[in-house]
This record gives sequence, structure tokens and C-alpha cells, in this order.
Amino acid sequence: MSRQDILDTTVEGSVERTLFEQIELERLPQHIAIIMDGNGRWAKGRNLPRVEGHRAGIKSVREAVETCARLDVPVLTLYAFSVENWKRPRTEVDVLMKLLKQYLRLELSTLMKNNIRFRVLGRTPELPADVVEELEAGMERTRDNHGLLFNIALNYGGRTEIVDACQSIVNEAVANEKPVVVDEALFASHLYTAGIADPDLLIRTSGELRVSNFLLWQIAYAELWVTETLWPDFRKRELFRAIIDYQKRDRRYGGIAATRSTA
Ligand code: IPE
Ligand code: IPE
Ligand code: MG
Repeated sequence: MSRQDILDTTVEGSVERTLFEQIELERLPQHIAIIMDGNGRWAKGRNLPRVEGHRAGIKSVREAVETCARLDVPVLTLYAFSVENWKRPRTEVDVLMKLLKQYLRLELSTLMKNNIRFRVLGRTPELPADVVEELEAGMERTRDNHGLLFNIALNYGGRTEIVDACQSIVNEAVANEKPVVVDEALFASHLYTAGIADPDLLIRTSGELRVSNFLLWQIAYAELWVTETLWPDFRKRELFRAIIDYQKRDRRYGGIAATRSTA
């Protein structure tokens, strides 16, 4: 997959092409994280059961992954299931797990073909055994790919991740029988995202202005972008808009504004 594919698959003068042309390709976010929200509302608006929203959302997942791979964005992280989502009705959770398995099975060849590496962030051992099996097969098959890193946050909680990191630091110190001095770098190396750059851009669909326990440590300085669009309606034009907005932001990290000519 390449940027040329974007030109080949968009018509000159179309919304997508015009937006694509506005992106500065040498200043892309290095990690995009997305809170995929609004599947239930999408279905409700069509008088359909909630699970139909989840089913429709798969197309958006495919498009987000494909577009990031084509753009050469190094990392994409999608929030698919939170530790709090177990509170939902059993039937809905079951369908979500089934869809996930189906997605992985159907998409694996596409991931391979496009050199995409797949990883899971979250407490995977607590997931159903058949899902774990599919996830492990996906990670194993794609582990030597070196194109887009596609993380899926599954049974994920930001606080859970921080607690797990603390536990892992304690365990290591006990095993080594040595006190440990914790600093930010050491702490980050015990998170699920060890070795992965923090998200530059955090997108949330369906309008909610909250982070819902997603990547709490890693989003310290992420640029936030929220759209009213419901996840099943999210297409590459929205992703392009988010990137264009991101490129207009002045990221100060607590410092002062970069020098700009002021008229
Ligand atoms: C996001 O859509 C998918 C998951 C959280 C699994 P929702 O199911 O949260 O849809 P809304 O927010 O209720 O519309
Ligand atoms: C966030 O959406 C979790 C995922 C997208 C997996 P939720 O629908 O669970 O979040 P809240 O309940 O609106 O905060
Ligand atoms: Mg929701």
C-alpha cells in the first residue's frame, strides 16, 4: 500500500482528493489513536439492534487501517473493548467477540499483504479462549511485518494498565532482590505500549468529550480531535480532516509557542 494508491482510488476534485492534497505528508502524526464510539446510536437511528452498529463498524475499521497504511502512518491504535464494557448485556458482548474473531480471520491475508503488524493491548488472558487463540495467531503471523503497527485495545483500561505496570515493576524488583528507582522511562517500559511512541493525535467519534479510560498515561500531550460522526460512518475523509487540523495545532508541551512571523 502506498500514497499512490490514495491518488489512484480518489477522483481528482473529489472531497477526499482535495483533503488529501492538503496534508503535509512529511509531518504526519507518528501514532494515531481512535476511540471508536457511536455504534449503538448508529443502529438506533436506523431502528436496528445495537449489534448491527458493531457489524457496520467493521467497514470503518478496515478503512482506518488501510488509510493509515497507505499514508505511511507508523502506528494506529483502535479502542475496541474496554474493561468496563463487560457491563453490557451478555448477548452484545458475545457478538462483539464473534465479530472480532471474524474480522481477524478475514483480514489476516490483507494484513500480511500490506506488511501490517498486529498487536493487542489489554488484559488478554481474561478474554474467551477462542478469541485469545485467534489474537495470538494474528500476532504470530504478522510479527515480522514492518509496515504499519496496528494495535487493538481489547479488554483494555488505562487505569488497569497503570496498575499492571506497577505490579510488574514490583515483581521485577522482588525477583532481582534489589530496590528499584522508578522514573518515567522505566514506568513506560512496563506499560502494554512499551517501545511504542505516544499518540500524537487522539480521535473520538460520536461527539462525546471524554477519554473513557483510554491510554491515560500515553495521551499526556496528544492533540484531541472529536467528530459528531458515528463510528460506522467514519471514512477516510474524516481521517484526513483530523490530520489536517492536527497539522495546524501549535504543540507547546508546556513551553512557549514556536517562532512564527506575527503580522
Ligand atoms: C462503540 O460503540 C463500540 C464499543 C464500545 C464496543 P458503542 O457501542 O459504545 O455505541 P454507543 O456509544 O452506545 O452509541
Ligand atoms: C469507549 O466507548 C470504549 C470503546 C470505544 C471501546 P464507551 O461507549 O464504552 O464509553 P462511554 O461509556 O461512552 O464513556
Ligand atoms: Mg459508546
